[in-house]
Amino acid sequence: MTANKDSARMTRRQFLRTAAVLGGAAAAGPLLAACGAPGLGGASGPLKIGLLLPSSGIYAALGESITNGMKMYLDSVNNKAGGRDIQLIAEDEGTDPQPAAQKARKLVEQDQVDLVAGIVSSGVAGAIRDYFNDNKKFLILANAGADALTRKAKSQYIFRASFSNWQPNWPMGKWVAENIGKKAFISVPDYAAGAETVSAFRNSFEAAGGQVLKVQKTPFPNMGDPAPFLTDIKATAPELVYAFYSGAAATTFVKAYADFGLSKSIPLTGSGFMVEQDVLPALGDTALGVKSCLHWALSLDNAENKAFSDAYQKRTSKVANVFAVQGYDTARLIVEGLNAVQGDSGKADAFADALGKVSFASPRGAFKMDPNTHNTINHIYVREVKKNGDTLGNVVVADLGEVPDPGDDSKDTKA
Ligand code: PHB
Repeated sequence: MTANKDSARMTRRQFLRTAAVLGGAAAAGPLLAACGAPGLGGASGPLKIGLLLPSSGIYAALGESITNGMKMYLDSVNNKAGGRDIQLIAEDEGTDPQPAAQKARKLVEQDQVDLVAGIVSSGVAGAIRDYFNDNKKFLILANAGADALTRKAKSQYIFRASFSNWQPNWPMGKWVAENIGKKAFISVPDYAAGAETVSAFRNSFEAAGGQVLKVQKTPFPNMGDPAPFLTDIKATAPELVYAFYSGAAATTFVKAYADFGLSKSIPLTGSGFMVEQDVLPALGDTALGVKSCLHWALSLDNAENKAFSDAYQKRTSKVANVFAVQGYDTARLIVEGLNAVQGDSGKADAFADALGKVSFASPRGAFKMDPNTHNTINHIYVREVKKNGDTLGNVVVADLGEVPDPGDDSKDTKA
């Protein structure tokens, strides 16, 4: 070990102590930067990717699907990129931002990963943004839709292979006003992704003549007893409900919606996570008829989707879902970026440049990174849950076209 490395290690220990005293991920960034921490590692040896995804809490199943999708792609390239072997080191994101931020620091500081991929929750993504930006560490988001990361909090070191929360919800506002009804009740979990769902949907819904009767914010991560929330919806008697729930929260909400008899009288709509293929087995017929918007559907008719969905089912004995697609595309984005710099992830500028230019044929259709926002340009579809024999699936019923995030808040209506 060189004297340099020794002193770097000493400083890192001091840093960890200081950061623990100060608390919070935001405090850690500038300190680590001041220690002269490197950007990405050198070009030799295995390339270590920290995988920060939930294996506990309401989003645990999402973490599993994303991991499966990533591993499926990495296996297809023999776990190599730019001539280097890829090693994955996983940590549990959970849902609480501060412990998740500690895990991110552990991956970078202790495990010395070259980059981190994953992140399901917008709350976690927001909490770790400064740490990655300030320390020039690459973070590749595989789900979390926090709009700001593609707008005023954009970073040279952060790319997103999934969506911004604005992307599905904004085109859906107009479609719902024109096709379902004009008086809406909105129900979302009380955290960043819920608030962003409301501001995007509301903007185009109101512009198309819609009226938001009420916005309901339910406790996050755990909703608790859903009864008071459904009672409130019933009492408000809207023409439709628009909602964002995902993972275990989606199961709680959609089942309760049917149990309260609401699905027969008030159409349920929302972003497609609420009735994605991961939750459909638990929802059963309670999800029938729900119309939702997303950048993928099981029924999407392209060769990559067919091959992907078949291979995923064979590998996991589960039906493919949007999170698995995002994991698959995240891994491919990383691999293509590394291939472009011959595995030399230390060339941070060149690596960022390469990531911004990646495009390929994905199960979602054309995957295109937007170099201006570092966010994926998605095609958005309206899907309806239908039954084919015994199997429930999301069938595309309308095509809302290609939707890049605008890169600023000009098409949002804040509450
Ligand atoms: C988010 O927190 O941004 C989020 C979480 C789960 C989803 C979608 C978005 O399914």
